[in-house]
Amino acid sequence: MAEPNRRSAAVPNDLEAFWVPFTPNRAFKRAPRLIARAKDMHYYTPEGRAVLDGTAGLWCTNAGHNRAPIVEAIQRQAEELDYAPAFQFAHPKSFELASRIAALAPADLDRVFFCNSGSEAVDTALKIALAFHNVRGQASRTRLIGRERGYHGVGFGGISVGGIVSNRKHFGTLLAGVDHLPATYNRERQAFTKGEPEWGAHLADDLDRIVALHDASTIAAVIVEPMAGSTGVLPPPKGYLERLRAICDRHGILLIFDEVITGFGRLGHAFAAERYGVTPDMITFAKGITSGAVPMGGVIAREGIYDAFMRGPEHVAELFHGYTYSAHPLACAAGLATLDLYRDEKLFERAKALEPRFADAAMALKSVPGVLDIRTVGLTAGIDLASRPDAFGKRAYEAMERSFHDEGVMIRITGETLALTPPLIVSEAQIGEIFEKVTRVIKAVM
Ligand SMILES: Cc1ncc(COP(=O)(O)O)c(C=O)c1O
Repeated sequence: MAEPNRRSAAVPNDLEAFWVPFTPNRAFKRAPRLIARAKDMHYYTPEGRAVLDGTAGLWCTNAGHNRAPIVEAIQRQAEELDYAPAFQFAHPKSFELASRIAALAPADLDRVFFCNSGSEAVDTALKIALAFHNVRGQASRTRLIGRERGYHGVGFGGISVGGIVSNRKHFGTLLAGVDHLPATYNRERQAFTKGEPEWGAHLADDLDRIVALHDASTIAAVIVEPMAGSTGVLPPPKGYLERLRAICDRHGILLIFDEVITGFGRLGHAFAAERYGVTPDMITFAKGITSGAVPMGGVIAREGIYDAFMRGPEHVAELFHGYTYSAHPLACAAGLATLDLYRDEKLFERAKALEPRFADAAMALKSVPGVLDIRTVGLTAGIDLASRPDAFGKRAYEAMERSFHDEGVMIRITGETLALTPPLIVSEAQIGEIFEKVTRVIKAVM
């Protein structure tokens, strides 16, 4: 399908200068996957070839691409106010957006700190946790607990609490005083589960072991993704998050949900905290807040956390942290327009309603040779492929290349897992199309 009424975009003839992130540069530059335009559920190559977006970009364009209300809000904002200092001054839309986000967040998670990415959101949340204990006279609480197979971005805080070896091994000693919970995935116990697996709640009890080892008085916070996205779509076992919450409460440890992927409708709710009925002390968000249109991230904190900082001389900043582009006017305008779209088109409800259809379509691949496991939750599926004997990850890489070049569908890969996470505007027919294409691709690479 060629895009109607559009000229082809210019194709660059020199690919050397750009160091492409999280990408095998040599392979990419031999056969680049270039995207020039987008609209709704489709990307378009520079030649005008349509590619169905099975990944919401990078888990972020939840409202679909280049939606007119978001585009127009950004255009209007660029004319009205390009930038206002983020420190000591503020602009009206930053307050408006913070209030709208607070209204979507559960319970008393009512205070919003803005930054520009998920990585910054995570480092901000970790710093708030440390400073919170400090201002309350519990400065010995400095340990941070993450989880194996966790992904919390690429800042030093995020890779320290994260649990992906490739993201950690080249970067020295990282933050001191970090420990990790075990990952919640066990293929033997959980293979081919739709939604949250029955097995695994007890793995939260490992936090008690960590507390016994280090003592609660040294632990500031636990951070987990409610659903681990980047390491292959790992929904939490039933009861797991509740148990983590209970143990944190018993020991005065803050619980942070990293909802950079799960926020804004991915699991059929504004936040996964709502889906699971578990209230953390802080939520990190990014991606879906602007449907990917302008970089933005942030932390939502419980009122009591913010209040603990509101002391000392009133002319002195209470938290020495922030970014030049915190609450950037373009991001706030995009965020407000995006939240309007989510509300007006009931996109979170739509994701919830489509979940069974999406899960059925994914699980239909169970009998395809070489498929070792399929996991689904919300509008998200992870499909594990058997590796080639000589090269872990090569089969999935080939699947991604074929998907883009031959089938016209964008998929995401991590290790030997294919991840499907389309925009929440995906139609039932497009769900069918995504999985038909992916089935052909898997058969071709086996
Ligand atoms: C759970 C989680 N936290 C943090 C991040 C980092 O976000 P960013 O790439 O915007 O820094 C991601 C990115 O995928 C993520 O999935």
